[in-house]
Amino acid sequence: MKKDRNISVDFDDVNSAETFRNIGYQIIDVLAEELTKAKENIGFPVLNWQTPQEQLKFWQDDFKGDKIENPLPLFRNIIKSSININMRGNVGHQIAAPHPITTLTSALIAHLNNGMGVYEVGMAGNAMEKIVIDDLSRIFGLPDDASGFVTSGGSLGNLTAILTAKTKYLRENPDVKIDQLVVMLSEEAHYSTDRTASVIGLRKENIFKVPVDADFRMRTDLLEDFYQLADRENKKIFCIIGCSCSTSTGSFDDLAAIADFAHKYKIWFHVDAAHGGPSVFSTKYRHLLNGIHNANSIIMDFHKMMGVPSLSTAVIFRHSWYSNLTFSQDAKYLWQDQKSEEWYNSGKRTFECTKPMSIVHIYTILRMYGYDIFQEQIELLYGLAKDFAENLNKRSDFEVLIKPQSNIVCFRFINSKGDLNILNSKIQQEIVRDGRFYIVGTTASGQYYLRVSLMNTRTTQADLQELLNLIIEKASEQTMNVDNFKINVQ
Ligand SMILES: Cc1ncc(COP(=O)(O)O)c(C=O)c1O
Repeated sequence: MKKDRNISVDFDDVNSAETFRNIGYQIIDVLAEELTKAKENIGFPVLNWQTPQEQLKFWQDDFKGDKIENPLPLFRNIIKSSININMRGNVGHQIAAPHPITTLTSALIAHLNNGMGVYEVGMAGNAMEKIVIDDLSRIFGLPDDASGFVTSGGSLGNLTAILTAKTKYLRENPDVKIDQLVVMLSEEAHYSTDRTASVIGLRKENIFKVPVDADFRMRTDLLEDFYQLADRENKKIFCIIGCSCSTSTGSFDDLAAIADFAHKYKIWFHVDAAHGGPSVFSTKYRHLLNGIHNANSIIMDFHKMMGVPSLSTAVIFRHSWYSNLTFSQDAKYLWQDQKSEEWYNSGKRTFECTKPMSIVHIYTILRMYGYDIFQEQIELLYGLAKDFAENLNKRSDFEVLIKPQSNIVCFRFINSKGDLNILNSKIQQEIVRDGRFYIVGTTASGQYYLRVSLMNTRTTQADLQELLNLIIEKASEQTMNVDNFKINVQ
């Protein structure tokens, strides 16, 4: 039975500007304290590990509590039970440590709550989106009529772009059946592309996964063979996807070679640049995207390498009319003219109906810092990864999987005669439980590797040295704890 709550609520209180101001100032103070901790990083964990059962119990008890007037203690508990993404020791997943100004743009977006699918419920948002996406299209070197929109996440972005490719292909080739359609991607492509292929109705065996080379880049020397295979089986390749970069190892496919292949056989060329797209802002790393100007579609997450809170993704089409292909359908209560392709009713082109004004984050960052902030961020973080890998390479107790091409480094502790897969996966778990750092793991070439994504501009080489010390400490603890393998720590 639910507890009998007092349900009488005074909306004058709920909507009170004074209460909002009072609580708001306190919350800003708490978050500012968190930012100071993130910078100083002394004695503050990245996470306070608890088991799922412990967390569930904690929040079940909390939920039973009396109503609260001020949510500040609640917020403090949420902070305590969450990964502190801004801490220098957070080097786990590819999630942005958001630029602090975006905590404030988040408040603005929530306050306005303009669900910008329809122009008048998002006048500013729709205009900003056009300006930023058109600008990005130019920066990627696409033609003048390239354009697109912002959607909620890379997975949705990939789905939207690949669905558009399919729609266009089937319109142009009405005799082709869905069972014949093939998408080609690297075996290292993010699972969202694979999932998309299933969502849009492709047969599993028609997802052609191209093997990768020693650096985990798509083997473009095999593309022709795959084409011939498809041809023999009367299958039609309608889309090929390049990775910029892969999630697991941060490897960049050779987009120029993929573009040549796509051009030769008139195949839609999609680039999943969710993570590595912002390399385009760096004169030093732009070359990683050579060939991207030939793409039919590109996605890039603002919430990975661009300091924006989740989720916010650019979907860019080579020709703006592509983006109107997919969702031309009737919604008379939203738009009077169903067929027109105006840019300012963005809901006509996205999956979302009520769409968040997430563009405000990136627009504000650009107005305050310009593209320079992304150039600096990419160069700092890719440089940090490169130096970290070089340090690891100088040591005999660690092994690096590949020379990092971005800010992702995969490595493992090897100073042991035991099973390195078990050992390294144990180390990763122990580091999570320790809480001073957060790292993740991945499997590559059948081996388990520790994996860091250097997303945070506060993280230093000295922090990473401390991480190595902790890894060695955890490895040596495993020697005592685990009987089934012997670890020989120097
Ligand atoms: C290469 C790549 N594509 C797509 C995605 C999915 O993006 P999102 O998490 O924004 O849906 C990811 C996420 O890590 C990714 O690394």
